[in-house]
Amino acid sequence: MSLLITNIKELVGIDPKNRHCLRGAEMKQLNTLRNAWVYIHDGIIKGFGTMDQPESQNPVEKDLVTIDATGKMVFPSFCDSHTHLVYAGSREIEYVDKIKGLTYEEIAKRGGGILNSSKLLHATSEEELYDSAWQRLEEIKFLGTGAVEIKSGYGLTVEDELKMLMVIKRLRENSALTIRATFLGAHAFPAEYKDHHDDYVELIINEMIPQIAAADLADFIDVFCDRGFFTIQQTEQILMAGMKHGMRAKIHANELDYTGGIQIGVKYEALSVDHLEFTGIKEIASLLGSDVMPTLLPGAAFFLGMPYAPVRQMIDAGLGVALASDFNPGSSPSGNMQFVISMGCVKYKMLPEEAINAATINSAYAMGVSDELGSIAIGKRANLFITKPIPSIEYMPYYYGHNKVETVILNGKIQ
Ligand code: NIG
Ligand code: FE
Repeated sequence: MSLLITNIKELVGIDPKNRHCLRGAEMKQLNTLRNAWVYIHDGIIKGFGTMDQPESQNPVEKDLVTIDATGKMVFPSFCDSHTHLVYAGSREIEYVDKIKGLTYEEIAKRGGGILNSSKLLHATSEEELYDSAWQRLEEIKFLGTGAVEIKSGYGLTVEDELKMLMVIKRLRENSALTIRATFLGAHAFPAEYKDHHDDYVELIINEMIPQIAAADLADFIDVFCDRGFFTIQQTEQILMAGMKHGMRAKIHANELDYTGGIQIGVKYEALSVDHLEFTGIKEIASLLGSDVMPTLLPGAAFFLGMPYAPVRQMIDAGLGVALASDFNPGSSPSGNMQFVISMGCVKYKMLPEEAINAATINSAYAMGVSDELGSIAIGKRANLFITKPIPSIEYMPYYYGHNKVETVILNGKIQ
């Protein structure tokens, strides 16, 4: 099937150079074409240009579908490189506890938090888990997300981690979204390992990782490396074990303190280090010159009332950054990437162009798909959306809390 979108008010996120990520000052360059067309064949972007160029008269094809986008813009779909969207139940009681003044760590210590989700997940069938995650995928699809990374980490036993990863595998097979899977057995210590953490680390290394790798269920290995969770030494052991089995590292780092997690990410050439509320000069220096993508999750900082990462300073120092939702039941119960870019602008002082690049090409990089997604480039997969009529690019983050997406196209197909 071929698709021709014509009269596009502005075609956003074009990258003729087909770069895999943007850094520092490059982040504020968001290339666009006004009064444009884009032509898609067999799910691939085959051409684009302005309406006054002769190529806009594309070959007459029998099965060509034409969409007139007068007054509307076309964006590359968002890539959400950090989510935990397979989960059971919800945790609004803890939300109220937080309002009353308890911290994330205090709630976790009382058996709430991740352990609460783990209990709920244990009592939920694979089928139910799949159905609820499918609904969330459908929801974010129509909010403009075209690719999503999903973590395990609410299982915390061999059996339940495999159950989560099987659900992610089935979602990947059936959804139009591009999905990558991350093994996050090192998300929290189960209650029965409270007094012997290292035994749980052994279980991850000797049982979970080999079984998950044998079934080819995870692209990436992740660790919640932070105060009160996994230590630097445990993180190193787990990352090394995952990497030995072909999983690339990603880390939850520096959300609760300056722990050295960012530097460990750099040492193990992680694809991304995520959260980063506690980032200082040393952390920025260690990231500069590395290929690690610092990934910010403003939804979690907002929802938990945490300090916001010094993103302006990071970009001004020359770093690229990605934005993701962290969609999960505890610290960010939303996968709305439109809201994420609004928060990126308001809370991190990112320019709209920077926030959009961070949520498209750089987040594509942070989940290992930027060779085929994240920008409008010839040869890339046609994951894009047509907006409702909007006056400007800046309107996208400005008009927060509203869905500005009208038509979603994934793999060249209208959804
Ligand atoms: O990314 N920080 C650790 N993990 C999740 C929270 C998960 C939860 O509370 O359920 C996060 O914010
Ligand atoms: Fe997370």
